[in-house]
Amino acid sequence: MESTTWRWQLADGTASNDWDAWSRRLHAIAARRGLDLLRLGRIDGDPLLLIAPGPGSAARPRRLIASGFHGEEPAGPWGVLAFLENVSDELLGACALTLLPLVNVSGFRAGRRLNAYGENPNRGYLPGAEAASQEGLLLMEHAGLLTEAARDGLLSCHEDVLLEHCYLYANEHGEQPGAWAARLLATNAEFFPIHPDGEVDGCTVRGGIVFNHADTSFESWLFERGASHTACVETPGQADFMQRVAAQAAMMRAFLMG
Ligand code: NI
Repeated sequence: MESTTWRWQLADGTASNDWDAWSRRLHAIAARRGLDLLRLGRIDGDPLLLIAPGPGSAARPRRLIASGFHGEEPAGPWGVLAFLENVSDELLGACALTLLPLVNVSGFRAGRRLNAYGENPNRGYLPGAEAASQEGLLLMEHAGLLTEAARDGLLSCHEDVLLEHCYLYANEHGEQPGAWAARLLATNAEFFPIHPDGEVDGCTVRGGIVFNHADTSFESWLFERGASHTACVETPGQADFMQRVAAQAAMMRAFLMG
């Protein structure tokens, strides 16, 4: 499965792994909305980009949206574009929002889960069996910035290519998932059926949520570093691609509501 190439089509015929087209749209929307597009660094020439919060947002809740860790999960990065193109100024300005629109550029272009080195960009942030990826090392160089950016929440946007159901991982300090997690799940469920109770990816899923699962992922890392709550949302790769893009954008809007 790791070597499988996954590709879908957008409504206008663009291939889901067309990084040039994705990049052009990102730069266009950033220019139009006056977003501060920064480059954290490069991996073999590919930029790892970050959109910084707007000026004057320092006193607002600090939230981070991260997308595109896995190359066969392209609805997240395309969802970021749909979100930025359609979100109201009011909602966008309600918090100090930082975005990592596409972490694993080489995987995205190849339509493959792992990066060009065969590394998993969503593992190795904490001590464990898997070493950090090139992308992970670069993100960890910016640990202070990312920790501060996710202080009031992290949304990490993923897909599960083999499934027809949606679900999410939620981490927070509490006995059960809070209203924010229920809102994200309800938003996902406007588009797809919820995963039945049982097991998903080796974790217990109940009511569509894997609760307080710890691993060496980016989201576990930032939760351990003090993020108030983190979610890793999963849209189903077997569903229609544009529905998945729309669901990802809708969950980004829901995430900004708190
Ligand atoms: Ni993933």
